[in-house]
Amino acid sequence: MEFQDEWLQILRRCKDNVKLRIQPLFETLSEPQPDLGKGAGGDSMKAVDLAAEKAIIEVLQQSNVSFTLISEESGVIEFGAKPRQCYVTVDPIDGTTNLVRGLPFYASSIAVSSEPVLSSVYAAMVADLFHDTTYMAHVGKGAYRGDERIAPSSRLSLDDAVVGLDLNTYRVREIAPQVTGLIEATGHIRHFGANALELCYVAEGLTDAFVDVRGKLRATDLAAAWLILREAGGLITTPEGDALNVKLAPTEKVKFVAAGNPQIHRTILKLIQPRKRK
Ligand code: IPD
Ligand code: CA
Repeated sequence: MEFQDEWLQILRRCKDNVKLRIQPLFETLSEPQPDLGKGAGGDSMKAVDLAAEKAIIEVLQQSNVSFTLISEESGVIEFGAKPRQCYVTVDPIDGTTNLVRGLPFYASSIAVSSEPVLSSVYAAMVADLFHDTTYMAHVGKGAYRGDERIAPSSRLSLDDAVVGLDLNTYRVREIAPQVTGLIEATGHIRHFGANALELCYVAEGLTDAFVDVRGKLRATDLAAAWLILREAGGLITTPEGDALNVKLAPTEKVKFVAAGNPQIHRTILKLIQPRKRK
């Protein structure tokens, strides 16, 4: 219990420090952003991404933990005397484009694991930085939004469901045919632009499911929300319905179907199975 509280407190302090450190950069967001090169995950880095990452590292170091950082920006870095003691997988800002454009939907995502693999994540936080809402989970202890325990939706039918769908890819012609059946069957399709946070919306039942079959999302973006959704009682698998067995590495990509309950999850899996060629 003490160990669990300790991690959740550290993660909360990371969120506070990220907010503090990125605040001064908001004034310059309307100006052209300098090119800071590509991060370990392959995307261009912005000053806010680096400031948020630095803020997280600062708190972890102040907390005297030895850890291996696995970050979308700086990649894999060992800190302290026993860096294999735990792995801290970070997407410092999920939804950077939203943040830079002033769209109020972006988050910091941090997952703590005993190995650099998704299945060993045991503590997690996704912090909605605009609304100051914090989603947290510890393995076996449920998922929380602030102090309130959260649970996903029990909606069974897609007719009136709200389903997140990320089709944000230049390869849309190739990907779209896999999801047209789902779009046709679903009452309301959404995509907000920060996938970690969108998974937390499934965890808390604001949406009923979230699907990303692009093969473009990084494991670093998903790691924390994976635990939060499962601890809330939701399901998240590959599009084939298998467990998500991914390495935690900045270049590792993932496809998934996340849903609030087994019935709607099954319905979605059936709809997105690759069509057989005639
Ligand atoms: C992005 C967001 C977005 C998704 C992109 C991700 P980032 O994260 O989650 O919704 O469509 O694929 O890269 O780059 O802002 O950390
Ligand atoms: Ca990011």
